[in-house]
Amino acid sequence: MISKRPLISGTLPPATEVDDASYLAFIEGVRAFTLQQVESQIHARYQQAAATFARQHGRPPATFAEVRALLDQDPLVQARNRLWRSSQEMMWEGVIATYRKREAELLAELEEADRSGPGTVQWDPNFVYPDYVQAYEIHLQPGSYHRAPLAGYIYHYGTKIFFTGRNDGDALHRAQVQAAPIPADGQVRCILDLGCSIGQSTTAFKARFPAAEVWGIDIAAPMVRYAHKRAIDLGLEVHFAQMAAEQLRFPDGYFDLAHAFLLFHELPVPVIRQTIREVARVLRPGGLFVIYEFVVYNPDDPSPVGEYLLDFITRENGEPFAWDFCHLDFLAELRQGGFHDAQRIQTNAGRPAVVATR
Ligand SMILES: C[S@@+](CC[C@H](N)C(=O)[O-])C[C@H]1O[C@@H](n2cnc3c(N)ncnc32)[C@H](O)[C@@H]1O
Repeated sequence: MISKRPLISGTLPPATEVDDASYLAFIEGVRAFTLQQVESQIHARYQQAAATFARQHGRPPATFAEVRALLDQDPLVQARNRLWRSSQEMMWEGVIATYRKREAELLAELEEADRSGPGTVQWDPNFVYPDYVQAYEIHLQPGSYHRAPLAGYIYHYGTKIFFTGRNDGDALHRAQVQAAPIPADGQVRCILDLGCSIGQSTTAFKARFPAAEVWGIDIAAPMVRYAHKRAIDLGLEVHFAQMAAEQLRFPDGYFDLAHAFLLFHELPVPVIRQTIREVARVLRPGGLFVIYEFVVYNPDDPSPVGEYLLDFITRENGEPFAWDFCHLDFLAELRQGGFHDAQRIQTNAGRPAVVATR
C-alpha cells in the first residue's frame, strides 16, 4: 500500500514510501561521510606511506603500480573503497525498488509526456545501441542508461544521492550553465547539450537563454523521454532527441553553443574523436564548445591520489573508459578535430571547463 509520500524539492519524483526515502537518505549520509570524513584523509595517508616507502627504498614511489600498492594496503583506504562501492550498489538497489512499486503509473506518465509539450521528444524503439554502450552497466546502474524504461527516474534519484544534496533543485547544473562562456559576438540563438541525460543542463540553458532554440541529445531513449517529462514539469520548451553524439542529425553550422557535461569520460577514444569532429561540424564559425568533466583528476597537475581515485572509478564504478579519457591530450584532440582554439578555464561554478572555439 502506498503511504504518504515524502517531499523532495525540485522536479525529483519522491520515493514511493516513507521507509524507502529514509533508507535512501541513510545511503546519502553514508556517501557524505565517506567523502567528507574518509576520502578527505587519503592525501595525508599517502604522504605518510610515501615517506615510509622512501626511507625503506632510498627513493619515492616511482610507478603507478607502487602508488596503488601503497594505498591498497592502507586500512582507511580499504574502508573508503568498500563504503564507496557498497553505497553505490545499495543506492541503485534502493531507488529501483522504490520506483518499481509504482512502475505502471510512472510508465503511463512517460507515455503521456511523449505526446505533450511544451517542447518535443524523438526516440526510436528499434534504435540499435553500439557495442560500447551495450557492453557495460555504467556507474553500476543495473540496465545502465538504456535498458530499463524507468532509467531516467532511477538516474535522477541516484545522482541526487551521488551529489549528496549539492545538486538538489539542479543547483550544480544551473551554476555551471550560468558560468558557461558564450561566443565573442554574443549571439546565442541555438544551443546543443550533448549526452544530456535527464536534461538538467538543457533546461538550465533554456532558463538562461529563453529566446534560444535548445536541443538535448542522448543515446539512451529512457533518458530523453524522462528529460522531456521533466522539461514539461518545468514549463520549458526544450527539444530532446535520441541520438549518438558521434553521429548527429543536424545541418552544418546550426549551433552557436555546444555543451557536454560528464560525457567524454564515458566514450572510447575513437568515439571521442568522432564526436569532436561532429560537434565542430554542427557549430558555426566562432561558435563555442564548453565541456565540463571530472574534478577528481587534474590533467595539468596529476597527483598520485588523483590517479588512484581515477583508477578506482575505472575498475570499480563501471566507468571503463575514464582512465583513457583522462590520459588523452584532450586540448590537442579538439584542435586536431576542427577547433582553432581550445583551453582550460577556471569558472566560478567551482569546476574547471574546457572551452573550444570553432
Ligand atoms: C554521466 S551522464 C551525463 C550527465 C549529464 N550531462 C548531466 O548533466 O547530468 C552520460 C550520458 O551520456 C550518454 N551517452 C553515452 N554515450 C553517448 C553517445 N555516444 N552519444 C550521446 N550520448 C551518450 C549516456 O546515455 C548518459 O545519459
